[in-house]
Amino acid sequence: MSKSKQLKFPKNFLWGSAVSSYQVSGGIENCDWSEKFPAGKACDYYNQYEKYFEIAKELNQNVHRFSLSWSRIQPEEGKFNRKAILRYRKMLLALRKRGIKPMVTIWHWTLPLWMSEKGGWENSKFPDYFEEYTRFVVEELDDLVDFWITTNEPMIYTSLAYIMGTFPPQKNNLLAVPKVFYNFVKTHKKAYKAIHDINKNAKVGLAQNLSFVDAYYKSSVLNKIVASAFNFFRNKLFLELTKNYQDFLGINYYFHDRIKIASKFPFLKIENENKKVSDLGWEIYPEGIYYILKDLQKYNLPIYITENGLADTEDKNRAEFIKEHLKYIHKAIAEGVDVKGYLHWSLLDNFEWADGFEPRFGLVEMDYEKMETKIRGSAREYAGICKNSLLAFCI
Ligand code: FCB
Repeated sequence: MSKSKQLKFPKNFLWGSAVSSYQVSGGIENCDWSEKFPAGKACDYYNQYEKYFEIAKELNQNVHRFSLSWSRIQPEEGKFNRKAILRYRKMLLALRKRGIKPMVTIWHWTLPLWMSEKGGWENSKFPDYFEEYTRFVVEELDDLVDFWITTNEPMIYTSLAYIMGTFPPQKNNLLAVPKVFYNFVKTHKKAYKAIHDINKNAKVGLAQNLSFVDAYYKSSVLNKIVASAFNFFRNKLFLELTKNYQDFLGINYYFHDRIKIASKFPFLKIENENKKVSDLGWEIYPEGIYYILKDLQKYNLPIYITENGLADTEDKNRAEFIKEHLKYIHKAIAEGVDVKGYLHWSLLDNFEWADGFEPRFGLVEMDYEKMETKIRGSAREYAGICKNSLLAFCI
């Protein structure tokens, strides 16, 4: 007979889900993605947010992460759109009314056209433009926001936009990378200070995509050195440079990177076991989150899992995925790591960047034609956990 086990999460632990503006809002036509990667109406979240927040509430969620659209708020250089700000105030009020804490990302990967025409993240004045935008939104919205996230996944964006060339501005230019990287560090620090100028008690962080890195040949010293060099650039450098400018650590966890040495540039490749993968072929590796969290303990900062999820159209693996990750998060908490919340990616199926609408990351299934929603089975299971902060499973 199988026995059951229960894991209780700390009091006041936050449970929720995340989305980002371009991926769900609809109607954004003046950003750097709109021409080549149009997202059309997406989930029409910009208009139908009440419906979606009601679902989040029904699923017992008490925190919600969404992002602001810079191109909506500042459609032209020097011009701010009051209507857009009022809409965001309404959204924030709609969350608060339902007892859901807003976690707001100021920038999640899309630039207003005017900013991209000025060179985007390569422009040395970028941090100043971003500061101006940040000051405006924080002055207008801070009274309704619980957590601010300045930027989403600087390292992933830099590599996809400037090395792999899959995201706008679609460059393969290693030479641009140091500049963009430096601008991300500077931008985050400036934005952090600007937010604290306005509200010294604000909780400010950023969402970093951290992968769990290990060596393919664990007994090879060389392989281990290469893996730790990769780990340093992929996961640690940015964190080290910004650690004194984060009130909490926001962690997006998706990837296991098992590093093998290769003979051709960049002299390494990622070769995972891939016993289980998502619809996008990303390895499902829950224990990785435990090692990452243990490693973050030294920073002595509260931690929120700001994203974690998978593409799973059939909803075959999502419930188990959530539970397995939560078991490892709980293990880290039991060993003293200060994890304060978990936000699943994503509340809704949405526009998955260069992969379009095909991947299905939602707790809630979207019928984009009819704009209808269906709550997936995994969402109900997750809601059960959120309800009492209790994870029960068979052993
Ligand atoms: C993360 C992004 C998010 C979403 C998920 C699947 O890297 O922050 O917008 O695309 O991946």
